[in-house]
Amino acid sequence: MFEEYPPAAGTEIDRQLVSLGPLKGKSVAIVGYGTMGRAHGLNLVRSGIEVVVGSRAGSSTGKRASAEGLAVFSVADAVAQADVVMLMLPDEAMAEAYRVDVEPHLQPAAALGFAHGFAIAFDQIRPTRGRPCFLAAPKAQGDMLLEAHAAGGGVPGLLAVTADSPDGTWDLAAAYAEAVGSLAGGGFVTSFRAECISDQFGEQVVLCGGVVELLKSAFDIMVDAGYGEENAYFECVHELKLITDLLHRHGVDGMRQMISGTASYGGLTRGPRIIDDSVRERMRDILRELEDGTFAGELLARHGETEALAKAEATGPLASAGRLMLPRLHPETEPTQSED
Ligand SMILES: NC(=O)c1ccc[n+]([C@@H]2O[C@H](COP(=O)([O-])OP(=O)(O)OC[C@H]3O[C@@H](n4cnc5c(N)ncnc54)[C@H](OP(=O)(O)O)[C@@H]3O)[C@@H](O)[C@H]2O)c1
Repeated sequence: MFEEYPPAAGTEIDRQLVSLGPLKGKSVAIVGYGTMGRAHGLNLVRSGIEVVVGSRAGSSTGKRASAEGLAVFSVADAVAQADVVMLMLPDEAMAEAYRVDVEPHLQPAAALGFAHGFAIAFDQIRPTRGRPCFLAAPKAQGDMLLEAHAAGGGVPGLLAVTADSPDGTWDLAAAYAEAVGSLAGGGFVTSFRAECISDQFGEQVVLCGGVVELLKSAFDIMVDAGYGEENAYFECVHELKLITDLLHRHGVDGMRQMISGTASYGGLTRGPRIIDDSVRERMRDILRELEDGTFAGELLARHGETEALAKAEATGPLASAGRLMLPRLHPETEPTQSED
């Protein structure tokens, strides 16, 4: 499939050369049927691949897999019968589950697969030498991957293979990514470490950290200055989607051409005052914490605090305004559960 092995980082995968052959007649165990495991499992079935699901006792997601027509076993039994074992567990739960329920039951030649680089990049799991081990990381949230594949398409994705994996693992990884729909939007070669760090940097600095804090701060400042919550919500939150849709589809330069001259001039001259050198320095700090393992250690030690942090955010002014505005803006959407 590639001119040279291992392929260089950044190499684009030519979908014309990808065959599902390496997966044909093989059984894939999806261990963990949460957001990403469910998307992989259902997409594989749609692609004609045999799937079993591994769930712990009393698992609500295991019950869902069963209700959706998949064969569900204990993690040990699913692993024992599989040629490919996909670990679709929370990143912080991987090490223990692997040690207790996965590794002792793996067939000698079974391949291990991941949807995120964390477990391998930060040594949570050390597969025995020579075991095929790959990363097929769709660059989308699980439900979006599921929807895109059901509609006949897919999303972009990144692929990696550990250095001591045997010949054929790249072909297996590409077959797997094609079968779950994560080559349709473009597939590129990376490493477990680069995928993990770039993914977490994007989440923290932009997507789930920086943007959300920007919205909360802008909303608070407008409301504190006496502007209506509805004005602040429309301008600082609701319209974000309109702009990100333009950015997503047309790029930053295309977006500028499609907004008003006032919005363009104001953004180009005021944006750099918000994101200045001091912000860029803190972005570099966050990247350093990812690279040197500080964040990985903190996540493993303190992930249990996430729920309390999210609950505290849910009592804040922006979340409260969202609960008032969203039933009007999206009457068709079921409200998510949160504190009031
Ligand atoms: N969510 C996304 O959109 C997304 C995007 C990119 C990459 N990923 C990656 O996909 C992987 C899975 O993440 P996720 O978000 O799909 O997780 P998730 O929604 O939290 O689901 C985790 C699944 O693992 C099961 N589980 C938890 N602890 C377990 C244990 N000790 N033993 C057995 N089963 C256990 C849960 O089942 P129970 O019902 O038993 O709790 C659930 O089915 C991670 O590597 C993540 O980084 C996810």
